[in-house]
Amino acid sequence: NNEALQLEILNFLDKNGKIEDSMNFKFEGKNVDQLVFLGALNSLTSKDMVVYKQIENEKWNVTAEGNEIAETGSHEAKVFNAIPAGDEGITIADLTAKVGPAAKIGQGKAFKNKWISKKGDRLVRNVASIQDKTQEDLKIIKETNNHSDANTLKDLKKRKLIDRQKITSYSVEKGEKFSTTIVKQATDITYEMLQNGSWKDVSFKKYNFDAEGIQPKGGYLHPLMKVREEFRQIFFQMGFSEMPTNKFVESSFWNFDALFQPQQHPARDLQDTFFLKDPATTNEFPEDYLERVRNTHEKGGYGSIGYGYNWSREETQKLILRTHTTSVSSHMLYTLAQKMKENGKFEPAKYFSIDRVFRNETVDATHLAEFHQVEGFIADYDLNLGHLIGVLNDFFHRMGVDKIKFKPAYNPYTEPSMEIFSYHAGLDEWVEIGNSGMFRPEMLRPMGLPENVRVIAWGLSLERPTMIKYSIDNIRELLGHKCDIEMIQNNPICRLEKKMGREL
Ligand code: PHE
Repeated sequence: NNEALQLEILNFLDKNGKIEDSMNFKFEGKNVDQLVFLGALNSLTSKDMVVYKQIENEKWNVTAEGNEIAETGSHEAKVFNAIPAGDEGITIADLTAKVGPAAKIGQGKAFKNKWISKKGDRLVRNVASIQDKTQEDLKIIKETNNHSDANTLKDLKKRKLIDRQKITSYSVEKGEKFSTTIVKQATDITYEMLQNGSWKDVSFKKYNFDAEGIQPKGGYLHPLMKVREEFRQIFFQMGFSEMPTNKFVESSFWNFDALFQPQQHPARDLQDTFFLKDPATTNEFPEDYLERVRNTHEKGGYGSIGYGYNWSREETQKLILRTHTTSVSSHMLYTLAQKMKENGKFEPAKYFSIDRVFRNETVDATHLAEFHQVEGFIADYDLNLGHLIGVLNDFFHRMGVDKIKFKPAYNPYTEPSMEIFSYHAGLDEWVEIGNSGMFRPEMLRPMGLPENVRVIAWGLSLERPTMIKYSIDNIRELLGHKCDIEMIQNNPICRLEKKMGREL
């Protein structure tokens, strides 16, 4: 127990003033591991109760072979002891049989010490008795881990009977705040301490400025925002500008009527669209344009016969949560037509938007009442379906989607219209990834755009590619109240393998 050791150190210092060398310090009757001792010292020094210095020591240990000699004597002593006193001595064969493998090295040493000599083919004792210095030296080293004679140490090390070990120990003295009791330190000042004034007497733990900090909890990007940024970069690479999308509430006029979507269209039902209650309507429209839209719905024009119904102003005034970002595109195209009027010339344009849209859907694993759309359009002279197919190939290629197919589709505002399918290798299936088309003259001409200005456009959801990228199979785990905050904190940065464009 570290605290018991700390107390023992303090009591020792109280009695003796100093610990000369922690190597000799005993705790509960035993030597203390120096690392454990250091742990106790660091606790005490952090409170300024002690100060210490490091001591670098050398320690000699007896090896297994050295230990054997310390117990039973050196090889040369064994050889001497095996030779009987007197003149007849012993044969080398008998000696080897008696002493074992030590006989060979032992003989050499014993000859060198002049303890034995040869008489014919026998070995005899040269002296009456011997002093086994090797055994004595090893016994000393075993006891004290040291020897006073440096040459002895060198010699025994060479014979692999001893080993040197380097160890660090400590000399310890009383510190500024020495005491024999350990006061628990406070880590923080509390409201109570401030209230009752006890902070004046409390000992505070020092701050450890080297400690690793806690990961900050703020500022993580949602995966949808990461993928959005990748899409934005693709559009920017292709020379598109971003449309302002900060308008969740839109009139039915810009969301539907301007797009030549008839007022009886099922998408405009309560079941599909969120209508606002307060305020429920708006009355701010460019009236001349609104009249042209009414006319086109009722009677047609520009080569169209229209829908032939009575267009209602009440219906167009209704405020809704926008059901698609095409409302933003229609606004922008109208603005471009206004600019053309001012400049006397139409300027080709490429625009995109990525933002939230709202639909009155029954929520399930693949549908939410709100999601994000990615939408782009190009307005230029004499564009045709070939341009749309080319641009879509380029766009999806830059996202890393190479196999795409088109299927004829229907939108009230585009003709022709195409759904875009991509081959999903994992599913071994063609999956729908977007919708596209050429905006109808019934949409563009009332705005004031000339007949030969055509607009190609496409849209897709941001959620689908994000779910594929992050392997999320339930949309409710991505967005909404069931979304796991930790998922957002931990999910990696997004890199669509953006490729170079395909020139048209
Ligand atoms: N507005 C369409 C949708 O909500 C997408 C689209 C945009 C289709 C542009 C054609 C042209 O799915």
